[in-house]
Amino acid sequence: MTALPRAASQALLERNRAVIPGGMVSLNRKVEPAIAFVKARGARVWDADGNEYLDYHAGFAPYLLGHNDPDVNAAVQRTLADEATLMGSGTTPWEGRLCELIAEAVPCADKVQLTCSGSEATYHALRLSRSFTGRDGVVVMLGGYNGWHDAVARAVMPPAEATGPRVSPGEYPFLPLSAGIPDATAKDVHTVNFNDLESVEYVFKKHKIACVIAEPILQNIGIVKPRDGYLKGLRELCDRHGALLVFDEVKTGFRSALGGYQSICGVTPDLATFGKAVANGYPIGAIAGKSEVMDLFDTPDAKRRVLIAGTYNGHPLVVAAAIATIEKLRADGGAVYERLENLGRRMEEGLRKLFADAGVTAHVARQGSAFCAYFMDGPPRDWHDLRERHDFAFDTKYRRALIERGIYHFPMPTKQGSISAAHTEANIDRTLAVTREILAKL
Ligand SMILES: Cc1ncc(COP(=O)(O)O)c(C=O)c1O
Repeated sequence: MTALPRAASQALLERNRAVIPGGMVSLNRKVEPAIAFVKARGARVWDADGNEYLDYHAGFAPYLLGHNDPDVNAAVQRTLADEATLMGSGTTPWEGRLCELIAEAVPCADKVQLTCSGSEATYHALRLSRSFTGRDGVVVMLGGYNGWHDAVARAVMPPAEATGPRVSPGEYPFLPLSAGIPDATAKDVHTVNFNDLESVEYVFKKHKIACVIAEPILQNIGIVKPRDGYLKGLRELCDRHGALLVFDEVKTGFRSALGGYQSICGVTPDLATFGKAVANGYPIGAIAGKSEVMDLFDTPDAKRRVLIAGTYNGHPLVVAAAIATIEKLRADGGAVYERLENLGRRMEEGLRKLFADAGVTAHVARQGSAFCAYFMDGPPRDWHDLRERHDFAFDTKYRRALIERGIYHFPMPTKQGSISAAHTEANIDRTLAVTREILAKL
């Protein structure tokens, strides 16, 4: 398939490489084809060469209302016009309003704190859990991603040589995603399969565990859903063993539903972390949870007090974006979620039919506006299952072919597709028509 012109993207990458290791500031974005995007509006993005794409990557998912949502941008502009930017001393009316909105929406949220990223929120979730329980152990999921800090930075998609065969019940080695993590970290981090309660129980019996942290749906390897009773089982195991349950809703939060996936699955964690869709693309994170845990941020007991600090926490520009985003998501009784569900269903049903017509073995997984086409028979149960049964080579070819036809999916196998409220039925239909053409060629 002929490639779109990329000379300007390539030149930018070369230039930036001279001063930035890898040529870009988040190396999770280092993929082929290397494209430098320069503009975004609604469902569309443009690259440095002027190529236009319908966007299903959404910058790793925050843009639930679409790029440069006019109401969100207007709120930011109003904040600038009011000169209500960072004073950095004491509280502000806006941070209180945003935390109220999150507390009203999210079942576990008696109290809320704000950070600048999802990683900071998960960092605080571990510290709170450790202070609350007086224990150090943490259970994490193979195939999950919870940010870049020491305890959770582990390979999301490790190869078979790294994990060895499936371990159940039991745990995997830590598999750090980065150099520079002290060896001692590994002793407190216990990696188990998703959807495998026996392994969680095994770890609970062997180690002193402060918390289980899990994306309620594994959305960094597509859409790997919890099997029936799994999240409830995690809740029961945590309760039985005196550990906290943390849902990492950085991806599912506000995207699955206003109340996050916890409001859909009916299991309430002790703590939940948010980011991404909260401010429709402005940099924010949040941690929410039960008062008895969250109040450790301000307990008079200095030995148990958990530090939360950050020059830019609650920055009024970002907070204004988040308030405007949530108000828009809440409007008309959450009508936008019905629209997103309809668009998601149209995509799912359309893709299913296309794959069936083309004789391609595929499973289309979806939760609301988040979807993923797996080239395997039936849904994956966990990372092992996916690695063994999914056709990674075909997935890579499929994504690259779509990109060259102006449909942008992140060019890495199993990465989530994200539909926004700015997408239209016509956008979905065009995507399906292009997909039909490329399937015929592949
Ligand atoms: C589930 C999950 N948790 C945490 C993070 C980290 O968030 P951030 O990149 O804002 O630090 C991510 C980022 O992709 C994520 O998907």
